[in-house]
Amino acid sequence: MLAMTSLPDGYRLVDLPQDRRTDVLVLDAWAFPTSMTDEQLVGLDSPLSWDRTRGVEADDGELVALHASYPFTTFPVPGARTPVSGLTWVGVHPGHRRRGLLRAMITDHFTRSLARGEAVSALFAAEPGIYGRFGYGLAAQDLRLKIPRGAALRDVAGASDVRIRIERLDRERHDDVVHRLHGAVDRPGWATRDTPELRRTRLSDPEAFRGGAESLRIAVAERDGAPVGYAMFRRKESWDVPGPRGTVSVREVVAPDAAVARALWGVLVDLDLMATAEAWLLAPDDPITHLLVDLRAAEPRLVDNVWVRLLDVRAALATRRYAAPVDVVLEVTDATLPANAGRWRLTGDTRGAEVTSTRDEADLVLDVRELGAAYLGGTGLAGLASSGLVAERRPGALAQAATAFGWPLAPVCSWVF
Ligand SMILES: CC(C)(COP(=O)(O)OP(=O)(O)OC[C@H]1O[C@@H](n2cnc3c(N)ncnc32)[C@H](O)[C@@H]1OP(=O)(O)O)[C@@H](O)C(=O)NCCC(=O)NCCS
Repeated sequence: MLAMTSLPDGYRLVDLPQDRRTDVLVLDAWAFPTSMTDEQLVGLDSPLSWDRTRGVEADDGELVALHASYPFTTFPVPGARTPVSGLTWVGVHPGHRRRGLLRAMITDHFTRSLARGEAVSALFAAEPGIYGRFGYGLAAQDLRLKIPRGAALRDVAGASDVRIRIERLDRERHDDVVHRLHGAVDRPGWATRDTPELRRTRLSDPEAFRGGAESLRIAVAERDGAPVGYAMFRRKESWDVPGPRGTVSVREVVAPDAAVARALWGVLVDLDLMATAEAWLLAPDDPITHLLVDLRAAEPRLVDNVWVRLLDVRAALATRRYAAPVDVVLEVTDATLPANAGRWRLTGDTRGAEVTSTRDEADLVLDVRELGAAYLGGTGLAGLASSGLVAERRPGALAQAATAFGWPLAPVCSWVF
């Protein structure tokens, strides 16, 4: 059941099939201003799944708002993979903002995701102030680093046995290896690129988005002749009085073990004519944070990564695994999806979990937003409680639940969707 939000008068919700592509791109450019012409925009590959793309038309038929979702069929959550509806391409024409169009589209997104059996929605927020009101919690943060050229890295046994090939990124040549290695990463939040459209656009590299830098390059790490990891990056030249001050933009590093990570980062931080390697979308516990002898010199900064919304609390909590045995009654509030509100007994451990509706006394009281924040194991329930966002009703319940909801690896998504 959903607390329905209707559109303001004069608007209607519509499907946006592929033949509305130009309208979609033109509206998106209203929401996210760009110097590109409509013709250039139409020439780009589209990542959208058209059967999951919806909009709002005004009375005169003009498309004035838009949202879409990606079907992440194998989204990693702690100890499991589950279908997640990735909300994306949210935009409202500036002439129609603050009339409730986003609110109505969120209701539409929730209804349709639930109807498809997707118990969880995730997103990246253009502005962090937007989505909390709809029950999305900040579930992951990512690290940004500016690593000085030649930064000392700790040694890792076996790193010198990893061979690195540096090539121009080429879709034909690298699609399989990137898709296979990226999809094998088992870290909560690491959204997979399951559709052909997403797979294609992640490797496209339009000149308009390069910011004056070279086209994408890839360092492929090989062991015994087989690719085992990769790093995508591009270099941008810059000259100053003392000499070259170029920048390496690191886009995605995938390494299955420490030796491969050491070998790839060893290349990235020591490219000729470059002064800095800038990396973002790194997990807060990414290997580079421990490999760097001087992390402080890389000016670490944390920013919000994936936001998570539990659409079906019972199904979502039963899907993930728990790092330690847990048996708690959660009293959940949910203003938008009242079916989630009430008391739920959660029992589980690393092997599985069960969630049942209960009339027992509550152990912890929290809003669905906080449950979404804790869902991937990256935002601690105890920290939320210390901010007054989780209330403990049975002594000991908070420590038990906080330990169980944690996870050995910090969540992160390696690309913005
Ligand atoms: C953000 C955006 C989608 C909001 O659309 P909208 O139709 O104006 O939103 P609504 O009128 O439905 O607002 C719903 C609520 O969100 C709030 N809100 C909307 N945009 C907000 C923002 N950028 N920051 C904080 N709050 C915001 C509204 O004030 C309103 O608050 P309420 O709960 O007190 O009523 C629209 O302004 C936009 O397209 N912005 C540029 C592109 C963008 O940022 N897209 C989001 C991509 S993740």
